[in-house]
Amino acid sequence: MEFENIPFFRPDKYEEYVSFSLENTHLEPNQIVLYVNIGINNPFYENIQTIENPYYIRTLVNTYNKIHNSFIPSDLVSIAPNHYLRAEAAEAFLEMQRYMEEIDLPIVVRSAFRSFPLQFQIYNNNVASMGQKWADTWSARPGHSEHQLGLSVDILQPNTENINLSSANFENTNQYEWLINNAHRYGFILSYPYGYTHVTSYAFEPWHFRYIGIDTATYMFDNSIPTLDHYFATRVYPLEYVENIEQIDTNFNNIISTNANEYTEIQIENEFSVMNVVWIVIFSFLLLFFSLFVTAVFFRIKRKLYRKKRRLAMQYDFESISRKIKDKGEVGARRNVVRGSGINKRNVNRGSSSNRGRRIGSSK
Ligand code: DAL
Ligand code: ZN
Repeated sequence: MEFENIPFFRPDKYEEYVSFSLENTHLEPNQIVLYVNIGINNPFYENIQTIENPYYIRTLVNTYNKIHNSFIPSDLVSIAPNHYLRAEAAEAFLEMQRYMEEIDLPIVVRSAFRSFPLQFQIYNNNVASMGQKWADTWSARPGHSEHQLGLSVDILQPNTENINLSSANFENTNQYEWLINNAHRYGFILSYPYGYTHVTSYAFEPWHFRYIGIDTATYMFDNSIPTLDHYFATRVYPLEYVENIEQIDTNFNNIISTNANEYTEIQIENEFSVMNVVWIVIFSFLLLFFSLFVTAVFFRIKRKLYRKKRRLAMQYDFESISRKIKDKGEVGARRNVVRGSGINKRNVNRGSSSNRGRRIGSSK
């Protein structure tokens, strides 16, 4: 059949070529083979595979290939305050940035490495504020962003880093012009060029550059290969893999794929709802313990204050009683002295003070 003559024909995809060509009779055989190799005979975010080696510098991340949720590169280094790239990409970026500065084309970093939870937050905020269609056009779903690889960087001209990306008009700057003609010399490509939404699913993003290494970036530039999806889809299977079809997915391009249907969109959401419930339970327990602690402390302080107040009241009582006794004693003594009964004032004083001392002492 005609497909077999296309250089990047893949025997394992033959049936897909046939059925895709029946649905798209206007496409040429090479387009059929290209699109099926890319995977766009499947809707975006369907038939998702998990990437098992995200450290591979040319790892293809798209709507069909997903990075594991927990992946965070271990070699991130800073390229700007709060922005990180993997060491190799960071070195290349800083060198390129220095050179651009020298030729009076300064650039700044808007975003670089983004963790799965951060991408989740960005994507969900976009869905909440602009709707799912808009969100899917401008942001990758969590796990599907090149930013999670630590190899992509959003670049802008100075003083626009805090404004809306589309409003920065980066595509009209000299910096953009220079980058699309020279970034490959430093190993970078523009991931989402104009006119390829049907392949990437994303709108034109003039700010989003991806590090893939100088050799591959230069190869793509020299051969006008527009996206990394096209690059992999047009590569010819090495002969040994064709002879052993079973091995293709596990060896070719080092993208070792496993069936990852458990990471479909709905299940990501479920996963997060479960996480939310777990967090709510943990938080409730912490709140409960904290409330019990505060209540216990409150009652303890209240009890202490009550005891102190009671002690002071008792002390006051004893003192006033003692004073009364003393006063009475003095009156009696005076009467006795007057009457000549033999009880003098000094004896009464001694008796009342020793009495007071004993009682007060016993309340301590
Ligand atoms: N804006 C790109 C597609 C991302 O979110 O990774
Ligand atoms: Zn980006």
